[in-house]
Amino acid sequence: MQVHGTEFIALHGRASSAILELAPGEAPLWRYWGPRLADHARPHGPIRDGRARPSFSLDHDQPLTAFPTFGVGWFGQSALIAHRDGRDFAQAFTETQVHWIEPERRVELTLIDPVARLSVRVCLAMDPASDVLTLSSRLTNDGPDDIEVQWLAAAVLPLPPVASHVGYVSGRHNGEFQPCEDRLGRALWRRENRRGITSHDAFPGAIVREAGATQDAGLVYGAQLAWSGNHAQMIEWLDDDRFQWQLGEGFAPGEVRLAPGASLVTPQVLATVSGAGRNGVAQNFHAAIRARMVWPGGAMRPRPTHLNTWEGVYFDHDEATMKALATTAADLGLERFVLDDGWFHRRDNDTRALGDWRPDSRKYPRGLAPLAAHVTALGLEFGLWVEPEMVNPDSDLYRAHPDWALRIEGRPRLTARNQLVLDVGRPEVAEYLFSQLAALLESLPIRYLKWDHNRDLTTAGGPDGRARYRTQTLAFYALIERIRATFPAVEIESCAGGGGRIDAGVLRYAHRVWTSDCIDAVSRVTIQRGFLQFLPPEIMGAHVGAAPAHSTGRSQTLAFRAAVALPGHFGVELDAGALSAADRTELSVWVALQKSLRDRLHAGQVWLGDAGDNLLWQAHGQAADLILLVHRMAPSTLRHTPSVRLPMLDATRRYRIRRIDPPGPGSGASAATANFAALKGDGLVVDGAWLCASGLTVPPSKAESCAIFTVTAL
Ligand code: DGJ
Repeated sequence: MQVHGTEFIALHGRASSAILELAPGEAPLWRYWGPRLADHARPHGPIRDGRARPSFSLDHDQPLTAFPTFGVGWFGQSALIAHRDGRDFAQAFTETQVHWIEPERRVELTLIDPVARLSVRVCLAMDPASDVLTLSSRLTNDGPDDIEVQWLAAAVLPLPPVASHVGYVSGRHNGEFQPCEDRLGRALWRRENRRGITSHDAFPGAIVREAGATQDAGLVYGAQLAWSGNHAQMIEWLDDDRFQWQLGEGFAPGEVRLAPGASLVTPQVLATVSGAGRNGVAQNFHAAIRARMVWPGGAMRPRPTHLNTWEGVYFDHDEATMKALATTAADLGLERFVLDDGWFHRRDNDTRALGDWRPDSRKYPRGLAPLAAHVTALGLEFGLWVEPEMVNPDSDLYRAHPDWALRIEGRPRLTARNQLVLDVGRPEVAEYLFSQLAALLESLPIRYLKWDHNRDLTTAGGPDGRARYRTQTLAFYALIERIRATFPAVEIESCAGGGGRIDAGVLRYAHRVWTSDCIDAVSRVTIQRGFLQFLPPEIMGAHVGAAPAHSTGRSQTLAFRAAVALPGHFGVELDAGALSAADRTELSVWVALQKSLRDRLHAGQVWLGDAGDNLLWQAHGQAADLILLVHRMAPSTLRHTPSVRLPMLDATRRYRIRRIDPPGPGSGASAATANFAALKGDGLVVDGAWLCASGLTVPPSKAESCAIFTVTAL
């Protein structure tokens, strides 16, 4: 659309808009990304008409484009770092072709550099349902010689001058998704991951907020890269006080070299902006991730509750023990039995057998079929753990094919958890893995694979001595895609020592992630809240573990452990056979409660909040019909418990609030006031305006307890 002779590209979502200016002789200029503009609102002319040329500047000063590049007038971070043996080191995309796929929704910008003989296609798609802008880039080598690529931004996003803080999650194995926040300033903010998988410590995304933005109010931006390998993101202050935010794949030196005519396509970036604080961004991300997922049968069915054998028995398997565990799982009301690590050939500990994907004949003399038959006869689905990309040096596979591991000649093969990584990009390796998995999936009634990956990549070279990180991620995607295509009824869980491979990229193929090996419920509250900033609850593996928790040695009541697992994809991971009769009964009540609530927990939206005094709350569902969980994380320091303000409610309606968590030793003391009695009885009816502005008074409670309520509009 032309305004005052200038052409603009406008993309509109439900609550956000993006505007680029088409300027002759350069890539489109970023003019706006933020809250929704009126349909016809446009800048008053070209950007350069609105700002004087500063002193000591180029005569044609260069503002931020959709694809800024080094060396021909742009002094900031480049969206492309590439060269042809040192030449064509500077690029300028001076021609733009605009191809609309859907008006105001999806556009492809083809940018051409006739001097460096390169073209880039920048794709932008605004989804009005989620308000998520999806971006990606495709670089093509139009020249006669190879080009070496060191960086290709998947997205370049503008952030306004009010951007003040960047929030992100960091962590480690057993402690993923820890919240962090840095002040944005004039130094470059940059996060990178070189571990070869998504990593426990650098989730490929972040949120940026204006000063004063909170959990439920104020301007917040978010972006995440849909990629399960190395990655980088940076936020850079610009001369006009805006910032640019780039995200993309991380390349090892020399890893990407494009032959003449060849192209490089980046992963997608999901980006969003909300005026409703961090919760608004989380809700937009959840909607976008849900829309990307590919479910068996075309739609998600209620998430089956499951028992995972890992922390209950570790490697100590045999058919009779596992059958008894499955029977207990069924008695508890669980719906899926996942046989974790320890089932295959000579796998007694983590020192050997990865790669030899056949049942251990000592533990399962008749194979896994009798166990699987027992599980399915109980009405449970049968799931199996695998770690396809790995090999132990002590395995038949490695003895036969030592050259199949990623390696750099002359360097030691560095093990982690006693294992090496297979070079899945080699066709014979991928074929072997497919045939091993296919043999299991064809011979057993497996409906679920837990797909693990228990180490970072090192010495990740191929036979030609070149880096293979990117190839490895693409080969993993190809393998999992082939499994999905061949066995479409099978669901897959992505695990990498807990949460080491959780991202929007793997979620094209997987249906659940194992959030963390830490099942300590206190730790889990933080981990899960960090997770929920970027990803929806129904894919968040959340288990009731043992007390004391194996990862921390800390104990919590069964009620608290179950309440913390309740909103996610619920499971049990402990030696269920060793539970007391009372614990079994209590756990089965929680399983039944989760099954009765899961449709509401796993649809609609999620709101997180902090009521102060160590009370954290989260609400799931629709604003007219919520499940509200109020966690007391530590003892109160106040005489009176603070109210829980519920800003998402409709101030014009009234709500009935009922407390629904099963009474039990851990459910917390509840003083007998009229309101607290009503909450447990027919419910307390409260004005929405009051709940929005002042809040719900909740009963006093013991540390490490959770009260669960339904909040329903009348
Ligand atoms: C790491 C996973 O995170 C655990 O849940 C378990 O599957 C082990 N691997 C098995 O080795």
